[in-house]
Amino acid sequence: MLRCRTEPLVQRIYLDHNATTPLHPDVLDVMTKVLREDFGNPSSVHHFGQKAKSVIDQARSAVAALLGGDPSEIVFTSGGTESDNFAIRGVAEALERSGRRHLIATAIEHEAVLNTLKALAKRGWTTTLLPVDQSGVVSPDALRDALTDQTAIVSVMHANNEIGTIQPIAELARLAHDRGALFHTDAVQTAGKIALDVKALGVDLASISAHKFYGPKGVGAIWIRRGLRLLPLMSGGKHERSRRAGTENVAGIAGMGEAATRARGKMADEALRLTALRDRLEDAVLRAVPGTAVNGARAARVANTTNISFDRIEAESLLIALDLEGVAVSTGSACSSGTLEPSHVLKAMGFPAHRTQNSIRFSLGAANTEAEIDRVVAILPTVVEKLRNLTRVPVRA
Ligand SMILES: Cc1ncc(COP(=O)(O)O)c(C=O)c1O
Repeated sequence: MLRCRTEPLVQRIYLDHNATTPLHPDVLDVMTKVLREDFGNPSSVHHFGQKAKSVIDQARSAVAALLGGDPSEIVFTSGGTESDNFAIRGVAEALERSGRRHLIATAIEHEAVLNTLKALAKRGWTTTLLPVDQSGVVSPDALRDALTDQTAIVSVMHANNEIGTIQPIAELARLAHDRGALFHTDAVQTAGKIALDVKALGVDLASISAHKFYGPKGVGAIWIRRGLRLLPLMSGGKHERSRRAGTENVAGIAGMGEAATRARGKMADEALRLTALRDRLEDAVLRAVPGTAVNGARAARVANTTNISFDRIEAESLLIALDLEGVAVSTGSACSSGTLEPSHVLKAMGFPAHRTQNSIRFSLGAANTEAEIDRVVAILPTVVEKLRNLTRVPVRA
């Protein structure tokens, strides 16, 4: 008799939408159609090329509308990482000769920004990382003090990926401009979640990534204020108005356009729904599990995110224990060569070492329901208690 091994039946609950989101079925349909039918090279002048070009033009308009910009200001990239690199390196290199060789970012940026600054520091640029307070917010005074006449660009993320805290971008951008510096925001965690208006924010550049709002991976965009000059990262053809060489990822771009249109249509209602679910989860966990606290400002946050520390717990162990129960979450701390690296975000917020390694990010999304949240709340206290019993250290007050 043929026997096959099957996985035990677990109801899987995905609470890691800040890492990535599933592709929306409508996005998949659009991409499939483009892959099948619109295979032309958008640079070709014949019918097939022009059809592919019009697919890109349509997506460009949809992405521009999501950001409040003009389609001509959108450049498609391979994702948030490339957009962040392009913004910072592109401006730094364009302004190199002007003597502006100072770069500013916050200590809680994504690695795409932090490591770009590190790479430029090795090549002679000076860099400043702004501190944040215990709620994860950067103070305008800290930026005012850090700015010099040599500052080329300031990069501050719109919302943080680990704690969801939203930064006072408009005020920070104004301060940067007052000293003649440009301003970039990494809006990867806000695009499609909250209303984004690059003009109202007063920024010069903004990065976004499709896979964070139900689009495909490997495609993103950067909004570049009209008239701003930055050096391209790659040399090659004149694609994307000579700003990003290489034949376009037509199907990916079409998927991003569809995801942008969908997100724009339902963002406000979805934010209300997710706030209610997130608060239901957060309140219940704080009530039911002793030794828990929320990291980051509870008020100014994206709707879908909560980051909770669990006293006397190693985040990685809790993540694995929850995964065995079918619940997918994330930790900001990274496990490298067998040791748990503290979250650089929680560290920058001034938390003691234990709290930078005991925190779990729950990031909710479109498919999550009240029933799923209640199931997580039902599981968590037992899972946490089991792990704590293994260590037998009293809960910290
Ligand atoms: C804030 C932030 N910036 C940049 C990125 C990188 O985006 P991508 O995965 O598209 O390269 C991410 C992804 O996690 C992010 O959360």
